[in-house]
Amino acid sequence: MKPRIGVLTSGGDCPGLNAVLRGVVLAAEKFGWEVVGFRDGFEGLLSPGDHVILDRKSTDGIMALGGTIIGTTNRGHFVSKVGGGDRTIVPANVIADAKKILEELHVKALIIVGGDGSMTTALQLQEAGINCIGVPKTIDNDLEATAMTFGFDSAVATVMDGLDRLHTTATSHKRVMVVEVMGRHAGWIALHGGIAGGADIILIPEIPFDYDKIAAAIKTRDAAGNLGTLVVVAEGAKSKDGQQVKRDMQDGEFRLGGIGEVVAREIAKRTGKETRSCVLGHLQRGGAPTTLDRILGTRFGVKAVQLANEGHFGAMVSYQYYQVRHVPIAEAVNRLRLVPPNGEMVQTARDVEISFGD
Ligand code: F6P
Repeated sequence: MKPRIGVLTSGGDCPGLNAVLRGVVLAAEKFGWEVVGFRDGFEGLLSPGDHVILDRKSTDGIMALGGTIIGTTNRGHFVSKVGGGDRTIVPANVIADAKKILEELHVKALIIVGGDGSMTTALQLQEAGINCIGVPKTIDNDLEATAMTFGFDSAVATVMDGLDRLHTTATSHKRVMVVEVMGRHAGWIALHGGIAGGADIILIPEIPFDYDKIAAAIKTRDAAGNLGTLVVVAEGAKSKDGQQVKRDMQDGEFRLGGIGEVVAREIAKRTGKETRSCVLGHLQRGGAPTTLDRILGTRFGVKAVQLANEGHFGAMVSYQYYQVRHVPIAEAVNRLRLVPPNGEMVQTARDVEISFGD
């Protein structure tokens, strides 16, 4: 019997997950491993073990597909992040059950594709004696331990496309269009998507904004003869004296959303201009991955198998200086990479007349 390697995708989905799975399967085949895919994130590890054998046939042609063919969840028995970064411990009996299932299936190592919360869980499994390799995934691109994650570029492309479309209608009607995009703690999607899509105002969590400054920027544009104004706001952005706009609480974590509508209302009140808002939401998480995400996902998947093959357990794949390397999972968790408010990207945006409402 061939040695077996397990793989699961955990947390919110994003374009590029299937490229990782395909990379894992093809590299594993080269090194003589059989790949067991666990369904719906860590949940697939629980008795009786919800799994499927992944091979070149079942992964053929999946690279162009969004989502993940083995499913995922950001809820369930293994969730180890609640609220603003507080950690919880995965119950010992849950970990023991997962370990038993892996032993029964003869799985020698487990590749965990997920974000910060999933890596926190991976660390606990590793400490319990399960050989884990992490592959970082977050659409928000906010993990300090890797310069980039797959999924981000596809999300930015969706924002850019949305802004291109909204630009024409904003101009025709001489309106302000407010576009709410993802980004809980970090404004990377708003910043990159906003610059690429020609936004005039970008509001991000790292730079609290002032409604009067936003209104002043719009009036200045009007006076200069601009017809419409595009405002991009990250879901986690907040005004200087306000709070993040939250929807509801699920499994200890707030769902954000609604700031776009609030911003649109305040702009209309202060400028008297017709203002509309639009939420891109999960459109940013769906659809085919971009070239960059397919390549990065493939490289991450292959690297994870190489690490398993070399016995580098407890490591997480990481993209640094154009190379795919690895770091200890223990050093990667709970370290967010935020947009530096005085960094080069923000300054570049300011120099092309983008206002941050500050
Ligand atoms: O963390 C990634 C993310 O896409 C956030 O930007 C967003 O707040 C959240 O996930 C949405 O999660 P859900 O899939 O539960 O709606």
